[in-house]
Amino acid sequence: MRSGRASPPLLANTGNLLTWCNCSRPTCQRCGDNAKSYITGHAGHTADMNTFLDDPEFAEIILRAEQAIECGVFPERISQGSSGSYFAKDPKGKIIGVFKPKSEEPYGHLNPKWTKYFHKVCCPCCFGRGCLVPNQGYLSEAGAYLVDDKLGLGVVPKTKVVWLVSETFNYSAIDRAKSRGKKYALEKVPKVAKKFNRIGLPPKVGSFQLFVEGYKEADYWLRKFETDPLPENTRKEFQSQFERLVILDYVIRNTDRGNDNWLVRYEKQDDGLDLSDKDGQWTITKESTIKVAAIDNGLAFPFKHPDEWRAYPFHWAWLPQAKVPFSQETRDLVLPRISDMNFVQDLCEDLYELFKTDKGFDKATFENQMSVMRGQILNLTQALKDEKSPIQLVQMPRVIVERSSTGSQGRIVHLSNAFTQTFHSRKPFFSSW
Ligand SMILES: Nc1ncnc2c1ncn2[C@@H]1O[C@H](COP(=O)(O)OP(=O)(O)OP(=O)(O)O)[C@@H](O)[C@H]1O
Ligand SMILES: [Mg+2]
Repeated sequence: MRSGRASPPLLANTGNLLTWCNCSRPTCQRCGDNAKSYITGHAGHTADMNTFLDDPEFAEIILRAEQAIECGVFPERISQGSSGSYFAKDPKGKIIGVFKPKSEEPYGHLNPKWTKYFHKVCCPCCFGRGCLVPNQGYLSEAGAYLVDDKLGLGVVPKTKVVWLVSETFNYSAIDRAKSRGKKYALEKVPKVAKKFNRIGLPPKVGSFQLFVEGYKEADYWLRKFETDPLPENTRKEFQSQFERLVILDYVIRNTDRGNDNWLVRYEKQDDGLDLSDKDGQWTITKESTIKVAAIDNGLAFPFKHPDEWRAYPFHWAWLPQAKVPFSQETRDLVLPRISDMNFVQDLCEDLYELFKTDKGFDKATFENQMSVMRGQILNLTQALKDEKSPIQLVQMPRVIVERSSTGSQGRIVHLSNAFTQTFHSRKPFFSSW
Protein backbone atom coordinates (compact mmCIF):
# COMPACT_ATOMS: atom_id res chain seq x y z
CA MET A 1 0.00 0.00 0.00
CA ARG A 2 1.32 3.39 -0.90
CA SER A 3 2.02 5.82 1.84
CA GLY A 4 -0.20 8.86 1.94
CA ARG A 5 -3.24 6.89 0.97
CA ALA A 6 -5.89 5.41 3.17
CA SER A 7 -6.79 1.77 2.73
CA PRO A 8 -9.59 1.20 0.28
CA PRO A 9 -12.81 0.14 1.91
CA LEU A 10 -13.67 -3.53 1.77
CA LEU A 11 -16.74 -3.65 -0.37
CA ALA A 12 -18.92 -6.43 -1.56
CA ASN A 13 -19.51 -6.74 -5.26
CA THR A 14 -21.13 -3.47 -6.19
CA GLY A 15 -22.65 -4.68 -9.39
CA ASN A 16 -20.11 -2.61 -11.28
CA LEU A 17 -16.88 -3.69 -12.83
CA LEU A 18 -15.01 -3.58 -9.59
CA THR A 19 -14.79 -5.67 -6.48
CA TRP A 20 -12.24 -5.40 -3.72
CA CYS A 21 -9.96 -8.10 -2.48
CA ASN A 22 -7.74 -7.99 0.59
CA CYS A 23 -4.80 -6.50 -1.24
CA SER A 24 -4.52 -2.85 -2.06
CA ARG A 25 -5.67 -3.32 -5.66
CA PRO A 26 -9.17 -3.94 -6.85
CA THR A 27 -9.92 -7.03 -8.84
CA CYS A 28 -11.13 -6.06 -12.25
CA GLN A 29 -14.02 -8.11 -13.55
CA ARG A 30 -13.09 -7.13 -17.06
CA CYS A 31 -9.55 -8.52 -17.03
CA GLY A 32 -10.25 -10.82 -14.07
CA ASP A 33 -6.83 -10.57 -12.51
CA ASN A 34 -5.52 -7.61 -10.64
CA ALA A 35 -1.85 -8.53 -11.04
CA LYS A 36 -2.20 -8.93 -14.78
CA SER A 37 -3.95 -5.62 -15.19
CA TYR A 38 -1.12 -3.95 -13.33
CA ILE A 39 1.70 -5.52 -15.32
CA THR A 40 0.23 -5.15 -18.75
CA GLY A 41 -0.68 -1.63 -17.90
CA HIS A 42 -3.93 -1.70 -19.79
CA ALA A 43 -4.52 1.25 -17.58
CA GLY A 44 -0.94 1.75 -16.59
CA HIS A 45 0.91 2.15 -13.37
CA THR A 46 1.02 5.71 -12.24
CA ALA A 47 0.50 4.74 -8.62
CA ASP A 48 4.07 5.32 -7.50
CA MET A 49 4.27 8.60 -9.37
CA ASN A 50 1.37 10.11 -7.45
CA THR A 51 2.31 10.53 -3.82
CA PHE A 52 0.47 13.11 -1.78
CA LEU A 53 1.79 12.42 1.69
CA ASP A 54 0.42 15.67 3.08
CA ASP A 55 -3.03 15.19 1.61
CA PRO A 56 -4.46 11.69 2.11
CA GLU A 57 -7.92 12.79 0.95
CA PHE A 58 -6.61 13.92 -2.42
CA ALA A 59 -4.41 10.80 -2.62
CA GLU A 60 -7.54 8.70 -2.14
CA ILE A 61 -9.35 10.50 -4.97
CA ILE A 62 -6.44 9.95 -7.35
CA LEU A 63 -6.30 6.32 -6.30
CA ARG A 64 -9.97 5.98 -7.24
CA ALA A 65 -9.33 7.58 -10.63
CA GLU A 66 -6.48 5.11 -11.23
CA GLN A 67 -8.58 2.17 -10.12
CA ALA A 68 -11.36 3.24 -12.46
CA ILE A 69 -8.91 3.32 -15.37
CA GLU A 70 -7.64 -0.13 -14.45
CA CYS A 71 -11.20 -1.40 -14.71
CA GLY A 72 -11.90 0.21 -18.03
CA VAL A 73 -13.77 3.25 -16.73
CA PHE A 74 -11.66 5.67 -18.70
CA PRO A 75 -11.43 9.46 -18.51
CA GLU A 76 -13.67 11.01 -21.11
CA ARG A 77 -12.59 13.90 -23.30
CA ILE A 78 -14.54 17.10 -22.70
CA SER A 79 -15.95 17.89 -26.11
CA GLN A 80 -15.92 21.67 -25.80
CA GLY A 81 -12.64 23.54 -25.46
CA SER A 82 -9.50 24.04 -27.43
CA SER A 83 -7.39 21.37 -25.83
CA GLY A 84 -7.46 17.82 -24.55
CA SER A 85 -9.19 18.00 -21.18
CA TYR A 86 -10.80 14.95 -19.60
CA PHE A 87 -13.43 14.15 -17.02
CA ALA A 88 -11.78 11.58 -14.75
CA LYS A 89 -14.15 9.14 -13.10
CA ASP A 90 -14.29 6.83 -10.12
CA PRO A 91 -14.85 3.08 -10.59
CA LYS A 92 -18.62 3.64 -10.54
CA GLY A 93 -18.36 6.08 -13.41
CA LYS A 94 -19.00 9.20 -11.33
CA ILE A 95 -16.99 12.23 -12.50
CA ILE A 96 -14.50 13.18 -9.82
CA GLY A 97 -11.99 15.44 -11.54
CA VAL A 98 -10.85 17.32 -14.61
CA PHE A 99 -7.49 16.16 -15.93
CA LYS A 100 -5.57 18.35 -18.39
CA PRO A 101 -2.41 16.66 -19.68
CA LYS A 102 0.55 18.88 -20.52
CA SER A 103 1.05 17.21 -23.89
CA GLU A 104 -2.53 17.99 -24.96
CA GLU A 105 -2.61 21.66 -24.03
CA PRO A 106 -3.65 24.06 -26.81
CA TYR A 107 -0.11 24.16 -28.14
CA GLY A 108 1.14 20.87 -26.71
CA HIS A 109 2.51 18.44 -29.27
CA LEU A 110 -0.41 16.02 -28.87
CA ASN A 111 -3.26 18.49 -28.84
CA PRO A 112 -6.22 16.59 -30.27
CA LYS A 113 -7.95 19.69 -31.64
CA TRP A 114 -6.34 20.13 -35.03
CA THR A 115 -7.46 23.77 -35.52
CA LYS A 116 -4.90 24.89 -32.96
CA TYR A 117 -2.19 22.93 -34.68
CA PHE A 118 -3.24 24.52 -37.96
CA HIS A 119 -3.09 27.95 -36.31
CA LYS A 120 0.43 27.22 -35.01
CA VAL A 121 1.72 26.12 -38.41
CA CYS A 122 -0.03 28.70 -40.59
CA CYS A 123 0.14 31.74 -38.38
CA PRO A 124 3.22 31.39 -36.19
CA CYS A 125 3.47 35.15 -35.58
CA CYS A 126 0.15 35.17 -33.70
CA PHE A 127 0.79 31.86 -32.02
CA GLY A 128 -0.27 31.72 -28.40
CA ARG A 129 -0.09 34.46 -25.84
CA GLY A 130 3.31 36.11 -26.09
CA CYS A 131 3.45 36.90 -22.39
CA LEU A 132 2.94 33.32 -21.17
CA VAL A 133 5.39 30.46 -20.82
CA PRO A 134 4.23 28.06 -23.54
CA ASN A 135 2.95 24.62 -22.69
CA GLN A 136 2.94 25.05 -18.92
CA GLY A 137 -0.80 25.46 -18.53
CA TYR A 138 -1.03 22.56 -16.11
CA LEU A 139 1.40 24.34 -13.77
CA SER A 140 -0.64 27.50 -14.04
CA GLU A 141 -3.73 25.47 -13.03
CA ALA A 142 -1.94 24.01 -10.00
CA GLY A 143 -0.28 27.36 -9.21
CA ALA A 144 -3.66 29.10 -9.16
CA TYR A 145 -4.86 26.62 -6.54
CA LEU A 146 -1.69 27.17 -4.54
CA VAL A 147 -2.24 30.96 -4.54
CA ASP A 148 -5.93 30.52 -3.71
CA ASP A 149 -5.10 28.23 -0.83
CA LYS A 150 -2.36 30.45 0.62
CA LEU A 151 -4.57 33.52 0.45
CA GLY A 152 -7.49 31.61 2.00
CA LEU A 153 -9.79 32.53 -0.88
CA GLY A 154 -11.41 29.12 -1.35
CA VAL A 155 -12.64 29.68 -4.89
CA VAL A 156 -10.35 27.33 -6.85
CA PRO A 157 -11.29 23.64 -6.60
CA LYS A 158 -8.29 21.70 -5.35
CA THR A 159 -5.84 21.25 -8.23
CA LYS A 160 -2.56 19.37 -8.18
CA VAL A 161 -0.06 17.90 -10.62
CA VAL A 162 -0.88 14.26 -11.27
CA TRP A 163 0.29 11.46 -13.59
CA LEU A 164 -2.32 9.36 -15.35
CA VAL A 165 -2.38 6.96 -18.24
CA SER A 166 -5.45 5.99 -20.22
CA GLU A 167 -6.08 4.63 -23.66
CA THR A 168 -8.61 7.43 -24.19
CA PHE A 169 -5.82 10.04 -24.04
CA ASN A 170 -4.31 11.25 -27.28
CA TYR A 171 -1.13 9.27 -28.02
CA SER A 172 1.10 9.27 -31.04
CA ALA A 173 0.85 6.30 -33.39
CA ILE A 174 4.41 5.37 -32.35
CA ASP A 175 3.54 5.22 -28.64
CA ARG A 176 0.51 3.07 -29.38
CA ALA A 177 2.52 0.75 -31.62
CA LYS A 178 5.27 0.40 -28.99
CA SER A 179 2.73 -0.43 -26.34
CA ARG A 180 1.05 -3.05 -28.55
CA GLY A 181 4.43 -4.59 -29.34
CA LYS A 182 5.41 -4.88 -25.69
CA LYS A 183 2.09 -6.42 -24.73
CA TYR A 184 2.47 -8.93 -27.54
CA ALA A 185 6.00 -9.75 -26.33
CA LEU A 186 4.74 -10.19 -22.78
CA GLU A 187 2.24 -12.77 -23.94
CA LYS A 188 4.66 -14.62 -26.21
CA VAL A 189 7.99 -14.32 -24.40
CA PRO A 190 7.32 -13.32 -20.80
CA LYS A 191 10.99 -13.71 -19.81
CA VAL A 192 12.15 -11.08 -22.28
CA ALA A 193 9.25 -8.80 -21.58
CA LYS A 194 10.17 -8.69 -17.87
CA LYS A 195 13.13 -6.52 -18.88
CA PHE A 196 10.88 -3.76 -20.20
CA ASN A 197 10.82 -0.75 -17.95
CA ARG A 198 7.24 -0.06 -18.79
CA ILE A 199 4.56 -1.96 -20.56
CA GLY A 200 1.61 -0.01 -21.77
CA LEU A 201 1.15 3.56 -22.83
CA PRO A 202 3.34 6.25 -21.28
CA PRO A 203 1.80 8.12 -18.34
CA LYS A 204 0.96 11.77 -18.89
CA VAL A 205 1.63 14.58 -16.46
CA GLY A 206 -1.09 17.16 -16.09
CA SER A 207 -3.29 19.10 -13.74
CA PHE A 208 -6.05 17.31 -11.88
CA GLN A 209 -8.79 19.53 -10.53
CA LEU A 210 -11.54 18.20 -8.31
CA PHE A 211 -14.92 18.24 -9.99
CA VAL A 212 -17.42 20.51 -8.30
CA GLU A 213 -21.08 19.54 -8.51
CA GLY A 214 -24.18 21.63 -8.98
CA TYR A 215 -22.41 24.56 -10.65
CA LYS A 216 -23.29 26.38 -13.87
CA GLU A 217 -21.26 28.85 -15.92
CA ALA A 218 -21.30 32.34 -14.38
CA ASP A 219 -22.80 33.78 -17.57
CA TYR A 220 -25.97 31.81 -16.94
CA TRP A 221 -26.48 33.04 -13.40
CA LEU A 222 -25.41 36.62 -14.10
CA ARG A 223 -28.20 36.90 -16.66
CA LYS A 224 -30.69 35.39 -14.21
CA PHE A 225 -29.67 37.76 -11.45
CA GLU A 226 -30.35 40.73 -13.76
CA THR A 227 -34.02 39.85 -14.07
CA ASP A 228 -34.42 38.17 -10.71
CA PRO A 229 -32.20 40.02 -8.20
CA LEU A 230 -30.74 38.12 -5.28
CA PRO A 231 -32.03 38.62 -1.76
CA GLU A 232 -29.80 41.04 0.14
CA ASN A 233 -27.98 38.46 2.21
CA THR A 234 -27.23 36.24 -0.78
CA ARG A 235 -26.18 39.28 -2.80
CA LYS A 236 -23.59 40.07 -0.11
CA GLU A 237 -22.34 36.50 -0.14
CA PHE A 238 -22.05 36.61 -3.91
CA GLN A 239 -20.21 39.94 -3.76
CA SER A 240 -17.76 38.44 -1.28
CA GLN A 241 -17.17 35.41 -3.50
CA PHE A 242 -16.80 37.67 -6.52
CA GLU A 243 -14.14 39.73 -4.72
CA ARG A 244 -12.18 36.55 -4.03
CA LEU A 245 -12.27 35.68 -7.72
CA VAL A 246 -11.04 39.20 -8.55
CA ILE A 247 -8.16 38.87 -6.10
CA LEU A 248 -7.12 35.51 -7.44
CA ASP A 249 -7.21 36.68 -11.06
CA TYR A 250 -5.40 39.90 -10.31
CA VAL A 251 -2.58 38.23 -8.35
CA ILE A 252 -1.96 35.50 -10.93
CA ARG A 253 -2.69 37.94 -13.80
CA ASN A 254 -5.06 35.52 -15.42
CA THR A 255 -5.30 36.23 -19.15
CA ASP A 256 -8.35 34.05 -19.76
CA ARG A 257 -11.13 34.97 -17.37
CA GLY A 258 -14.25 35.11 -19.48
CA ASN A 259 -17.59 34.64 -17.77
CA ASP A 260 -17.60 31.05 -19.05
CA ASN A 261 -14.45 30.28 -17.09
CA TRP A 262 -15.93 30.64 -13.66
CA LEU A 263 -18.85 28.76 -12.25
CA VAL A 264 -21.58 29.61 -9.77
CA ARG A 265 -23.68 27.33 -7.63
CA TYR A 266 -26.86 28.87 -6.37
CA GLU A 267 -29.59 27.17 -4.41
CA LYS A 268 -32.56 29.42 -4.22
CA GLN A 269 -34.24 29.52 -0.81
CA ASP A 270 -37.77 28.17 -1.19
CA ASP A 271 -39.03 29.52 2.12
CA GLY A 272 -38.46 33.07 0.89
CA LEU A 273 -36.56 33.85 4.06
CA ASP A 274 -34.25 36.80 3.66
CA LEU A 275 -31.45 36.30 6.13
CA SER A 276 -30.02 39.79 5.84
CA ASP A 277 -28.60 41.23 9.02
CA LYS A 278 -29.39 44.83 8.19
CA ASP A 279 -29.53 45.85 11.82
CA GLY A 280 -26.44 43.82 12.61
CA GLN A 281 -28.26 42.23 15.56
CA TRP A 282 -27.79 38.60 14.65
CA THR A 283 -25.36 36.47 12.77
CA ILE A 284 -26.16 34.00 10.05
CA THR A 285 -25.40 30.41 10.83
CA LYS A 286 -27.09 29.05 7.71
CA GLU A 287 -24.95 27.27 5.16
CA SER A 288 -23.96 29.41 2.21
CA THR A 289 -26.39 29.22 -0.71
CA ILE A 290 -24.14 30.78 -3.31
CA LYS A 291 -20.62 29.77 -4.22
CA VAL A 292 -18.13 30.65 -6.94
CA ALA A 293 -15.65 28.19 -8.48
CA ALA A 294 -12.74 29.59 -10.48
CA ILE A 295 -11.94 26.91 -13.07
CA ASP A 296 -9.73 26.97 -16.17
CA ASN A 297 -6.72 28.79 -14.71
CA GLY A 298 -4.22 27.52 -17.27
CA LEU A 299 -3.39 30.84 -18.89
CA ALA A 300 -1.99 32.81 -15.96
CA PHE A 301 1.42 33.72 -14.45
CA PRO A 302 2.75 35.78 -17.40
CA PHE A 303 6.47 36.59 -17.40
CA LYS A 304 5.68 40.12 -18.58
CA HIS A 305 2.57 42.24 -18.53
CA PRO A 306 0.50 41.71 -21.67
CA ASP A 307 1.17 44.33 -24.34
CA GLU A 308 -1.41 47.04 -24.59
CA TRP A 309 -2.58 46.16 -28.08
CA ARG A 310 -3.61 42.71 -27.09
CA ALA A 311 -4.20 43.04 -23.40
CA TYR A 312 -6.29 40.22 -22.06
CA PRO A 313 -9.03 41.78 -20.03
CA PHE A 314 -10.60 40.46 -16.89
CA HIS A 315 -14.15 40.16 -18.16
CA TRP A 316 -15.56 40.55 -14.68
CA ALA A 317 -14.38 44.17 -14.77
CA TRP A 318 -17.48 45.03 -16.84
CA LEU A 319 -19.88 43.61 -14.29
CA PRO A 320 -21.76 45.90 -11.89
CA GLN A 321 -20.20 43.98 -8.98
CA ALA A 322 -16.80 45.40 -10.00
CA LYS A 323 -17.90 48.94 -9.15
CA VAL A 324 -18.41 48.12 -5.46
CA PRO A 325 -15.41 48.82 -3.17
CA PHE A 326 -13.81 45.72 -1.65
CA SER A 327 -15.62 44.71 1.52
CA GLN A 328 -14.13 44.93 4.98
CA GLU A 329 -14.35 41.12 5.20
CA THR A 330 -12.16 40.66 2.11
CA ARG A 331 -9.73 43.34 3.21
CA ASP A 332 -9.38 41.71 6.63
CA LEU A 333 -8.79 38.33 5.02
CA VAL A 334 -6.21 39.32 2.44
CA LEU A 335 -4.40 42.47 3.58
CA PRO A 336 -2.53 40.99 6.57
CA ARG A 337 -1.13 38.28 4.30
CA ILE A 338 -0.13 40.24 1.22
CA SER A 339 1.34 43.18 3.09
CA ASP A 340 3.77 40.81 4.82
CA MET A 341 6.93 40.43 2.73
CA ASN A 342 7.69 37.08 4.33
CA PHE A 343 4.32 35.77 3.18
CA VAL A 344 4.97 36.93 -0.38
CA GLN A 345 8.43 35.38 -0.28
CA ASP A 346 6.97 32.08 0.95
CA LEU A 347 4.42 32.16 -1.83
CA CYS A 348 7.15 32.64 -4.43
CA GLU A 349 9.15 29.80 -2.91
CA ASP A 350 6.16 27.45 -2.99
CA LEU A 351 5.51 28.34 -6.61
CA TYR A 352 9.18 27.72 -7.35
CA GLU A 353 8.92 24.21 -5.88
CA LEU A 354 5.94 23.56 -8.13
CA PHE A 355 7.16 25.16 -11.36
CA LYS A 356 10.68 23.74 -11.22
CA THR A 357 9.30 20.24 -11.75
CA ASP A 358 8.58 20.98 -15.43
CA LYS A 359 11.24 19.78 -17.82
CA GLY A 360 11.20 23.16 -19.61
CA PHE A 361 11.69 25.13 -16.37
CA ASP A 362 13.86 28.21 -16.72
CA LYS A 363 14.91 30.09 -13.59
CA ALA A 364 15.19 33.51 -15.26
CA THR A 365 11.71 33.20 -16.76
CA PHE A 366 10.35 32.12 -13.42
CA GLU A 367 11.90 35.18 -11.75
CA ASN A 368 10.14 37.36 -14.34
CA GLN A 369 6.84 35.63 -13.58
CA MET A 370 7.34 36.39 -9.90
CA SER A 371 8.25 40.02 -10.68
CA VAL A 372 4.89 40.46 -12.39
CA MET A 373 3.09 38.71 -9.53
CA ARG A 374 4.82 40.82 -6.88
CA GLY A 375 3.83 43.93 -8.86
CA GLN A 376 0.22 42.77 -8.88
CA ILE A 377 0.39 42.13 -5.14
CA LEU A 378 1.84 45.59 -4.56
CA ASN A 379 -1.05 47.23 -6.44
CA LEU A 380 -3.60 45.01 -4.71
CA THR A 381 -2.23 45.92 -1.29
CA GLN A 382 -2.56 49.61 -2.07
CA ALA A 383 -6.03 49.18 -3.56
CA LEU A 384 -7.30 47.31 -0.51
CA LYS A 385 -5.78 49.87 1.86
CA ASP A 386 -7.44 52.67 -0.12
CA GLU A 387 -10.79 50.85 -0.19
CA LYS A 388 -10.84 50.82 -3.96
CA SER A 389 -13.20 48.77 -6.13
CA PRO A 390 -12.15 46.01 -8.55
CA ILE A 391 -12.58 48.38 -11.50
CA GLN A 392 -10.28 50.92 -9.82
CA LEU A 393 -7.80 48.13 -9.13
CA VAL A 394 -7.52 47.15 -12.79
CA GLN A 395 -7.01 50.79 -13.75
CA MET A 396 -3.87 51.12 -11.63
CA PRO A 397 -0.59 51.48 -13.57
CA ARG A 398 1.09 48.16 -14.17
CA VAL A 399 4.16 47.52 -12.06
CA ILE A 400 6.80 44.86 -11.77
CA VAL A 401 8.80 44.23 -8.61
CA GLU A 402 12.10 42.60 -9.44
CA ARG A 403 14.40 40.92 -6.99
CA SER A 404 17.77 42.61 -7.19
CA SER A 405 20.67 40.24 -7.77
CA THR A 406 22.58 41.50 -4.71
CA GLY A 407 19.69 41.18 -2.33
CA SER A 408 18.97 37.54 -2.83
CA GLN A 409 20.74 36.05 0.17
CA GLY A 410 18.41 34.36 2.60
CA ARG A 411 14.98 35.66 3.50
CA ILE A 412 14.32 39.15 2.31
CA VAL A 413 12.40 41.33 4.68
CA HIS A 414 13.03 44.90 3.58
CA LEU A 415 11.43 45.69 0.28
CA SER A 416 13.60 48.74 -0.34
CA ASN A 417 16.86 46.78 0.10
CA ALA A 418 16.06 43.85 -2.07
CA PHE A 419 13.52 44.76 -4.73
CA THR A 420 13.19 47.26 -7.51
CA GLN A 421 9.78 48.55 -8.54
CA THR A 422 9.25 49.54 -12.14
CA PHE A 423 6.06 51.29 -13.16
CA HIS A 424 4.85 51.18 -16.71
CA SER A 425 4.24 54.68 -17.96
CA ARG A 426 1.44 53.58 -20.27
CA LYS A 427 -2.05 53.38 -18.88
CA PRO A 428 -3.43 49.88 -18.42
CA PHE A 429 -6.07 48.48 -20.70
CA PHE A 430 -9.10 49.32 -18.59
CA SER A 431 -9.16 53.04 -19.18
CA SER A 432 -12.60 53.30 -20.78
CA TRP A 433 -15.62 52.57 -18.67
N1 LIG B 1 -13.54 21.57 -11.60
C1 LIG B 1 -14.63 21.50 -12.37
N2 LIG B 1 -15.80 21.14 -11.82
C2 LIG B 1 -16.93 21.06 -12.60
N3 LIG B 1 -16.96 21.29 -13.92
C3 LIG B 1 -15.81 21.65 -14.52
C4 LIG B 1 -14.59 21.78 -13.78
N4 LIG B 1 -13.61 22.14 -14.64
C5 LIG B 1 -14.19 22.22 -15.85
N5 LIG B 1 -15.52 21.94 -15.79
C6 LIG B 1 -16.48 21.90 -16.91
O1 LIG B 1 -15.79 21.55 -18.09
C7 LIG B 1 -15.83 22.60 -19.04
C8 LIG B 1 -14.49 22.74 -19.72
O2 LIG B 1 -13.52 23.03 -18.76
P1 LIG B 1 -12.33 24.06 -19.03
O3 LIG B 1 -12.87 25.36 -19.50
O4 LIG B 1 -11.50 24.11 -17.79
O5 LIG B 1 -11.58 23.26 -20.17
P2 LIG B 1 -10.72 23.73 -21.40
O6 LIG B 1 -10.32 22.51 -22.12
O7 LIG B 1 -9.65 24.63 -20.91
O8 LIG B 1 -11.77 24.51 -22.28
P3 LIG B 1 -11.58 25.90 -23.06
O9 LIG B 1 -10.38 25.79 -23.92
O10 LIG B 1 -12.88 26.01 -23.83
O11 LIG B 1 -11.50 26.97 -22.03
C9 LIG B 1 -16.25 23.84 -18.26
O12 LIG B 1 -16.95 24.77 -19.02
C10 LIG B 1 -17.10 23.26 -17.15
O13 LIG B 1 -18.41 23.08 -17.61
MG1 LIG C 1 -12.91 27.08 -20.43
